[in-house]
Amino acid sequence: MFEKTLLAGRVILITGGGTGLGRSMALRFAELGAKVFLTGRREEPLKQTCEEIRAKGATAAFATCDVRDFAAVDTMAGVARHELGAVDTLVNNAAGNFLARTEKLSPNAFNAVVGIVLHGTFNCTQALAQRWITTGQPGTVLNIVTTYAATGSGFVVPSACAKAGVLAMTRSLAVEWARYRIRLNAIAPGPFPTEGAWSRLMPKEYEERALRYHPMKRFGRHAELANLAAYLVSEQAEYINGECVVIDGALWLRGAGEFNDFVDLPEAAWDAWESSRKR
Ligand code: COA
Repeated sequence: MFEKTLLAGRVILITGGGTGLGRSMALRFAELGAKVFLTGRREEPLKQTCEEIRAKGATAAFATCDVRDFAAVDTMAGVARHELGAVDTLVNNAAGNFLARTEKLSPNAFNAVVGIVLHGTFNCTQALAQRWITTGQPGTVLNIVTTYAATGSGFVVPSACAKAGVLAMTRSLAVEWARYRIRLNAIAPGPFPTEGAWSRLMPKEYEERALRYHPMKRFGRHAELANLAAYLVSEQAEYINGECVVIDGALWLRGAGEFNDFVDLPEAAWDAWESSRKR
């Protein structure tokens, strides 16, 4: 399905690109021919991922940047252009999140997450889009949201609010900027194990339960998300605009359907139920 030249000639900027899903997308995009520019707050993981990509013969560069700071983002976008040429694709992947009872949160805790996720996504999108619009170059933006961007979720309220905002931004700008040939889509992942997410969102004692509850009895594989991302940013998906693709093995739907808990009903109980109905 994925030819090795799918992303040839492309320059893709990935926020939070040194670790987790950002790193997996960067490696996959590079494998498919793209030059990748990684940004994030910590230099070490960015450097390591860059070296990994270069060791495979592909092109990568990085710069540290806190996406909450527009001036820093604008400078970083300039560095990306200088290092790899005009960026044509932005992946807003950098995120902040933690599990907490909302009544215990300080205003600063709320701001920290909303700052990274919502303001950070706006800052990066704005910095790139202004360049695209000025030069008449088409552009693609892929925002990594979450399934609870649409439903909301307890215990991650700052993230739910911020991701809902990013989803609204995706849909709004898909319409507003289509005339500039700027395309925006989102991916809503369910559980994909990463160091960052697992340490903040998956208490050890909950993991087993989460697997049992999952309709497919497994978490997502990084390659599955990276391939979806590659398709969505590729020219093959040119007519897909303003869309949010869920990739969670039907997890959020499990909670939505009133009778879905019956997946746990043993066969014997079904047989008894069905024979009582026949009588
Ligand atoms: N529960 C409640 N409050 C928390 C918290 C937690 N687990 N972690 C941080 N906070 C609060 C802090 O107490 C602080 O509030 P205060 O100043 O009123 O005390 C506020 O959040 C900011 O924390 P700080 O550590 O200074 O912010 P930061 O900008 O360095 O870090 C975070 C931002 C908190 C989002 C941090 O978890 C982070 O850097 N995450 C990036 C990676 C990530 O979250 N990945 C997950 C992807 S799913």
